[in-house]
Amino acid sequence: MNETIKILIEIAYMVSAVTFIYGLKMLSKPTTAIKGNIISGFGMALAIAVTLFNPVIKSYEWIIIGGLIGTVIGSIAAIRVPMTSMPGFVAFFNGTGGLASMLVGWSDFHVNYTGAGYGAYTLENIVLILATFLAMLIGGVTFSGSMIAFAKLEEKMRGKPILFKGQQIVNAIVLGLSILIGILFFVSPNGSLMYPAVILLIILAYILGVLVTIPIGGADMPVVICLLNSYSGMAGCASGFVLNNTVLIVAGSLVGASGIILTAIMCKAMNRSLTNVLFSGFGSSEGAISSAVKGEVKSLTPEDAYYVLEAARSVVFVPGYGMAVAQAQHVVKELADLLEKNGTEVKFAIHPVAGRMPGHMNVLLAEANVPYDKLLEMDDINPIIDTVDVCIVVGANDVVNPAAREDPNSAIYGMPIINSDYAKTCFVLKRSLASGFSGVENPLFFKENTRMIFGDAKQTLTAIINQFKEAQE
Ligand code: TAP
Repeated sequence: MNETIKILIEIAYMVSAVTFIYGLKMLSKPTTAIKGNIISGFGMALAIAVTLFNPVIKSYEWIIIGGLIGTVIGSIAAIRVPMTSMPGFVAFFNGTGGLASMLVGWSDFHVNYTGAGYGAYTLENIVLILATFLAMLIGGVTFSGSMIAFAKLEEKMRGKPILFKGQQIVNAIVLGLSILIGILFFVSPNGSLMYPAVILLIILAYILGVLVTIPIGGADMPVVICLLNSYSGMAGCASGFVLNNTVLIVAGSLVGASGIILTAIMCKAMNRSLTNVLFSGFGSSEGAISSAVKGEVKSLTPEDAYYVLEAARSVVFVPGYGMAVAQAQHVVKELADLLEKNGTEVKFAIHPVAGRMPGHMNVLLAEANVPYDKLLEMDDINPIIDTVDVCIVVGANDVVNPAAREDPNSAIYGMPIINSDYAKTCFVLKRSLASGFSGVENPLFFKENTRMIFGDAKQTLTAIINQFKEAQE
């Protein structure tokens, strides 16, 4: 009977794995993303449900308590956390994934070490020992690293890189010691000092997670979150080997691989290597040098902006993090509709790293029902942007900073940008002349064809909309 149940569980796991892969594929297009999410969610629910029938489970009270706590925290977070805090919470959840994998490794070690001990070096045992070590090391690094990322993104600690002399050497020593314990664990898994050594390994993993994340600047945090996401997948995969659980191995591999692919895409979008993101201390005062920005700032009132827009034949919106802060996506859509009604051609240009997480702007604009065919990627808008009458930059800064194109001394030199300054007129909607997340000054604000419209983006856009409405009455 037990064998039949195990076979049925394995079949259900295979079904779950297929739904994960299928769902992931559907996530690559906005039109199918919601369905993909539901299908993968169903697969995960199936995997959890059938696991409860595993004959090795002897009692359910801790599973129920854990499940209830997780469900309450997850549901409250999903409902209450605002979109602007989503990257921080993704980091938090990555961290809990890492912690879970670390605990799986630790508990399996504890059971084996205090019980019958690890047996002879069969292939199965070798895999178990290696997987246990990796689940604890990578899981621990993911947990503490993700908590630092969470604290930086939620501004609970300073976002600037924390650098100190000999940092790389300290990191290398901590990693070296961890690997040494791993080797000892492999050579003598039942050795008398192994128990305290494994506790030390977990502590070292936590320290390493902190050490590798603190030197990374706040603006690079989304890349690091993707990398930590990948780590959490790898730790999950390792814990799958520890538990001999197929679906955990498959899900962990998918998360590990997709996280690393996303990391590579983001680095490419910023024209930076992963090594540069991880070790350059970007955003520290030494890193953020740029030539002094000169020129005159010309500001405009929303009323004046209305007259320009009323006569424009083509308008492109370039949203950035400020649109998310102002929650201006709905008024952006309302203005776009009014412009179209007035005969203006309207498009939206999306930079791959605008905002604070991949697809941030796409999600917000989709929430406001902006049709997907109106969204243009950076490479599609740049060749035609000089034909655009008005480019409206809504709370974007770094992703439209011409210093990335023009100033070899700038810390963001080489990062591909949306060339908003090439449009005939460029409106920049933000509250001040403050720099963006990278801390680099923006010469766009001083360009001849730029008009700054100072204020909260939502209020500014609402004021322009009111002008349109008044004119229609
Ligand atoms: P940022 O460069 O961060 O600039 C956002 C601007 O929004 C700020 O300068 C701010 O200026 C303005 N703002 C804030 N609140 C506002 C409000 N209520 N109304 C109007 N404006 C407001 O944004 P970005 O251009 O989107 O660039 C994203 C940054 O994150 C880049 O540095 C990018 O490299 C980094 N990054 C992103 C990702 C992903 S995946 N998105 C990944 C890695 C790195 P004021 O204070 O003057 O208003």
